[in-house]
Amino acid sequence: MHDINIVSVDDNIVNLLLIEAFAKDLKMNVHSFTSAMEALTYVSCNPVDIILTDYMMPEMHGIDFIKNVRQYHPDLPIVMITAVSDNNQLLLDALEAGAMEFLNKPLNPAEIKARLTSLAKLCKSQLLLKDKALLLEEEVRKSVCVIEEREHEAISVLGNAAEYKDPNTGTHITRVASYSVVIMRGFGKNIQEQNIIFHSAPLHDIGKIGIPDSILTKPASYTPEEFEIMKRHSQIGYDMLKDAKSPYLRQGGEIALTHHEKFNGAGYPNGLKGLEIPLYGRIVAIADVFDALTTSRPYKEAWSIEKSISYLKNEKGSHFDPDIVDVFVENIQEIKRILNGEMITL
Ligand SMILES: [Fe+2]
Ligand SMILES: [Fe+2]
Repeated sequence: MHDINIVSVDDNIVNLLLIEAFAKDLKMNVHSFTSAMEALTYVSCNPVDIILTDYMMPEMHGIDFIKNVRQYHPDLPIVMITAVSDNNQLLLDALEAGAMEFLNKPLNPAEIKARLTSLAKLCKSQLLLKDKALLLEEEVRKSVCVIEEREHEAISVLGNAAEYKDPNTGTHITRVASYSVVIMRGFGKNIQEQNIIFHSAPLHDIGKIGIPDSILTKPASYTPEEFEIMKRHSQIGYDMLKDAKSPYLRQGGEIALTHHEKFNGAGYPNGLKGLEIPLYGRIVAIADVFDALTTSRPYKEAWSIEKSISYLKNEKGSHFDPDIVDVFVENIQEIKRILNGEMITL
């Protein structure tokens, strides 16, 4: 706890010296001013705990001085030094301007000491409260971070569960999430949106949990019947997540439902067209297909980046949103780094 700092203003130097003497007895720091203007300059940029002010001063009335101080220190204890003969109106005006206490002239040592001691106690308890509030705020902030980290962890465990059902996908979901963030950045979206897509894109295939292993792990192409069953993973993922309270899970549900829709309306499950497909679904569709193309699967070799990009370009407006393909291609250097195993930092 710091020492108490008093600013004392009076055009009468004797009064200033008296207050300095009493305050020093109480081990408080005093900054004395005969000029209210100078005192105002001082309090505008220095830490102050208590102000003592005379009211009749040549360049500025005590009440005006208090009003000015209040602009910088709305809660500071201000004591006005008055004469016994002063009228009630002056006291009322001083109270209205923001004076909290009065001291009578001629100054009485016992009264000044008692008043300064009680104000110092008030200051110290206020400072303590402020410290506690800051401490609590910091604790709350830390707790929120911990809860968010756990939420992210739970989501990635959930995403990995689908990946384990479909072991061919390897680190597919992490790369899809990272490509999606690159696209979000390319569109100038803020960090919150980047964060949401990073933690929700991994859930795009969560519905595969509900697809039989015999189909998921089949090393050959699907029969039309098998493909119909496989297509159900979009709806299953959505049904799992749609009522979640977490924005990441809810967004994951929307992505699960829409990541196989196509821009020309030929996708599944609902045949949505163009901008009817939510942005996150349109983004993950590109990230998902690009990653499937550039990695090897049991039924195909990994395609080169060039071949994969020209595939995306060919599918502009049919499978993919043309604007998103453009942004993806513009950021191909970062995409390559992610494909080579670099982690994205949010
Ligand atoms: Fe999928
Ligand atoms: Fe996928």
